[in-house]
Amino acid sequence: MVDRSSKAGNAALRGTAAPRRVHIKSYGCQMNVHDAERMADLLAGEGYAEVDAPDEADLVILNTCHIREKAAEKVYSELGRLSAMKRAGRPDMRIAVAGCVAQAEGAEIIRRQRDVDIVVGPQSYHRLPALLAASRAGKAIDTEFPEEDKFAHLPAPDRRRLATRGPTAFLTVQEGCDKFCAFCVVPFTRGAEMSRPVAALRDEARAMAAAGIREITLIGQNVNAYHGDDGQGGAAGLARLIAELAEIDGLDRLRYATSHPRDMDAALIAAHRDNPKLMPYLHLPVQSGSDRILKAMNRRHDRDFYRRIIDETRAARPDIALSSDFIVGFPGETEADFEDTMALVREIGFASAFSFKYSPRPGTKSAEGPDDVPEAEKSARLAALQALLAQQQGAFNRATLGRVVEVLFEKPGRHPGQVAGKSPYLQAVHVEVGPEAVPDHLGRILPVEITALASNSLHGRIAGPGLGRIGGKAA
Ligand code: 5AD
Ligand code: SF4
Repeated sequence: MVDRSSKAGNAALRGTAAPRRVHIKSYGCQMNVHDAERMADLLAGEGYAEVDAPDEADLVILNTCHIREKAAEKVYSELGRLSAMKRAGRPDMRIAVAGCVAQAEGAEIIRRQRDVDIVVGPQSYHRLPALLAASRAGKAIDTEFPEEDKFAHLPAPDRRRLATRGPTAFLTVQEGCDKFCAFCVVPFTRGAEMSRPVAALRDEARAMAAAGIREITLIGQNVNAYHGDDGQGGAAGLARLIAELAEIDGLDRLRYATSHPRDMDAALIAAHRDNPKLMPYLHLPVQSGSDRILKAMNRRHDRDFYRRIIDETRAARPDIALSSDFIVGFPGETEADFEDTMALVREIGFASAFSFKYSPRPGTKSAEGPDDVPEAEKSARLAALQALLAQQQGAFNRATLGRVVEVLFEKPGRHPGQVAGKSPYLQAVHVEVGPEAVPDHLGRILPVEITALASNSLHGRIAGPGLGRIGGKAA
């Protein structure tokens, strides 16, 4: 097996005449979606055009997720399909596994699937060009946590490419996690917490705004633990970063994800009151409503602490939409523990949520003990929790009926003549404007009166002139 090689491969790749095609398939979180875009940008500089289907591609990258067993197993079934494709007449097709499964399993992936050419972890994908060159001579693996700053080695997002992705974008401000919740692989796959400097983020956000981006979601595995170099010898927290980015003209909306209750400091809560560009939406995973289970999970907070943070945030921004993550069936979870979770959900009231059955992950603390809640019990608890959460989501959406909300239109809707966008509360909203008017709505923020509810979205009609197009000109 060959490890990383020199940069010589870059030139060789650039020199090839035939256009090359890459297909990237992403699994899992928003960070992976964003990493996939950065890989596409990097490979564009190497002459690769992105294609939608693997059978058209010279290079297929699976950008994988290791968070739960199901997600990780999907990768191997997909690799089986790709291997069959390669053997059925595409011997030159390269197969790369990137992301968190790559990080966690490394060379084991190639042992399980010999047709994989490249394995690259989430902290080293800036080295893809060299790995591609190295893969000509043998298998190429890079799962280091390199010293160099990955972002310094990635091309800045290209204006034209940004524009094709619509008016919203992700910006990685923080990566990794030092919390070590007992169930979670993230501290192992994404490594220790690191924050990017404020100045670099300001430059990147400015470039995004200049390219027509109107909404940025600041992302990180533990984004509210952000503490980036402030350029004056100190560290800026997430609230400071948000205040800096809110100064950028043309950028109208800011969001952040995903957060830990312990890192919701007073400044960040106050930003929800004081900063009109910070959208009224908070994804704050709680995982369980039982103090006993929270302790076993090593969450470093109890249910009262969580409730207090929510109360303070709601006092700062009463209309805030709350979202969370839940795990049911964590080892040792009794019916009474689960009832504590249900009670917490009833007390708080969420606008949306994600919930999962516990799945033991290799290397984590909780995987050392038994996975002792029976599968049928996990399923029953998950169904009960999801029914309650769906009810709450329905109630939240119903409460917007008849109201006027500002919608940032992102893309054409599924039906001709329809545009699709998001409310400040991250609800999907569809509006009929007629086929000719669709392009003119994209990238605009307009007031929309919500007139109907569908299963996964709201419908409405334009209710007046809005914040206009890029640069804030009147519409
Ligand atoms: N089993 C089930 N769910 C998990 N999550 C993280 N690790 C596990 C696991 N081992 C969930 C948590 C986390 C979300 C991203 O995935 O709820 O917040
Ligand atoms: Fe995982 Fe906990 Fe870190 Fe979130 S805070 S990434 S759940 S270890």
